[in-house]
Amino acid sequence: MSISLKGVSFSYQPGNPILRDINVDIQRGECVLILGRNGAGKSTLLKLLNGILKPTAGEVLVNGRNTASTPTSDLAAHIAVTFQNPGDQIFASSVRKEILFGPTNLKRQNAELLTDKALTTFGLGSKASRHPYDLLPAERKLLTIASAVATDAPFLAFDEPSAGLSHYERESFTNAFEELKTAGRTFIVVTHDLDFFITLATRVYIISSGGIGYAGSADDVLSQRETLRKLGVRIPLSERLLGMLE
Ligand SMILES: Nc1ncnc2c1ncn2[C@@H]1O[C@H](COP(=O)(O)OP(=O)(O)OP(=O)(O)O)[C@@H](O)[C@H]1O
Ligand SMILES: [Mg+2]
Repeated sequence: MSISLKGVSFSYQPGNPILRDINVDIQRGECVLILGRNGAGKSTLLKLLNGILKPTAGEVLVNGRNTASTPTSDLAAHIAVTFQNPGDQIFASSVRKEILFGPTNLKRQNAELLTDKALTTFGLGSKASRHPYDLLPAERKLLTIASAVATDAPFLAFDEPSAGLSHYERESFTNAFEELKTAGRTFIVVTHDLDFFITLATRVYIISSGGIGYAGSADDVLSQRETLRKLGVRIPLSERLLGMLE
């Protein structure tokens, strides 16, 4: 079980490539962070993983299925991607219906159970009957993440999942991620929030100038302060403090 990007390039407009010759392999059980400056192409990369966008060159294989020739509805059983802006994704008239849509559509036997579990994991149980647009922005973000988790797809890709969360929400969010990691789910996370995700990560990629500017283990990346700075990645607070002491 893996996701493979083989020589992937992508352009929105001909002659203006956003990503060039990306080669990445993501194995089951990993937590891969995708970092990089604003506009580097991180969200574009996530949209290539579940076939919303198709590579202009190269191929993306999800558990061996080529995204260029596999319907996105089939890929959805293997990978769930959340968007940076929850408003681009939410469409149902209640929180519960929104979460239930994915597992029902994928004909998961235990769709109701998966929905209830996701509601609880992300602290949305008391809001199940609310209209999604009555939620706070951070709760809407949690709703999209809960919806992805409830599909039971083994690969989960989140675009800026911790953006806008309060201190309290971050705490329960940490527990949720630990729980999902223990359950063997695989994460691909686009984030500017290294403080939050570095302890969960197995591998880190930094997108720069359309390519992989840096690839390394989560332990290694923290020792690469100069590289992080050059590639426009905000260094975690603990590392900044360490740097000041040195
Ligand atoms: N639908 C689109 N049509 C044309 N260009 C686009 C489109 N979406 C994104 N772009 C451009 O592609 C580049 C990469 O955008 P992308 O959203 O992938 O970056 P990002 O790394 O996610 O940035 P951010 O950190 O701000 O979210 C940017 O220059 C952006 O303006
Ligand atoms: Mg983005």
